[in-house]
Amino acid sequence: MSEFIVIFVSIYPYLRTPVLMNYMRFYISIVASIIFIAGILGSCKKKDEAEGIDKQLLDMAQSSSGYTWYKNDASLLDKSPGSGHNYPFLRTRFDQIASTMLDSNGKITDSITFPEGSFIVKELYSDGSTLARYAILYKQSNSSYADAKGWIWGYINADGTVAVTAEEKGQQCISCHSQDGNIDYMLMNKYFP
Ligand code: HEC
Repeated sequence: MSEFIVIFVSIYPYLRTPVLMNYMRFYISIVASIIFIAGILGSCKKKDEAEGIDKQLLDMAQSSSGYTWYKNDASLLDKSPGSGHNYPFLRTRFDQIASTMLDSNGKITDSITFPEGSFIVKELYSDGSTLARYAILYKQSNSSYADAKGWIWGYINADGTVAVTAEEKGQQCISCHSQDGNIDYMLMNKYFP
């Protein structure tokens, strides 16, 4: 430490020459701008990218093996008039646990309640080949993110950013999904009979 003080004191008179002062100011302002811009970029990234529960839902949704498609059909459907999801095409799949509640036609059996662990993913497409977003329902009654019926609501973009965090507990989703004709919140049967 004392070495630095000695060096500083000995170069101080030179630092004060106008040319050096200007050079230092210029240098310091460039460094400060870089730190500032990096800070802004860093915080944006943090805000949008899926973390915690959203990241967990994203990872689960991205794996596609072991699922059954609604009506046993993987083709894209035109979104229904009742859809709150602003993408033109969709298709919905049910994991091994959830698919035990599908009938032989791949439709949700009337009046059932999905068992613990059920994972249901609606894929939303912005055009005929571009997957844009996952809408997810995951039954985990003991999770602190679950709603009163035990469902966690995920809404995550395919690029890994969050559309609506599961921490909101489906506030923007539940009233629409509680409409007449829902089966344990599910609306596929009503709109794609
Ligand atoms: C204004 C009504 C509305 C809102 C709000 C809404 N949804 Fe939906 N959702 C639908 C309809 C209708 C369907 C049936 C398929 C379709 O047409 O999109 C559906 C289908 C789904 C499905 C497929 C399973 C099924 O059978 O319902 C999931 C998962 C889903 N929505 C999740 C969500 C999440 C998560 C949110 C909130 C971020 C949300 N929804 C908000 C209307 C809505």
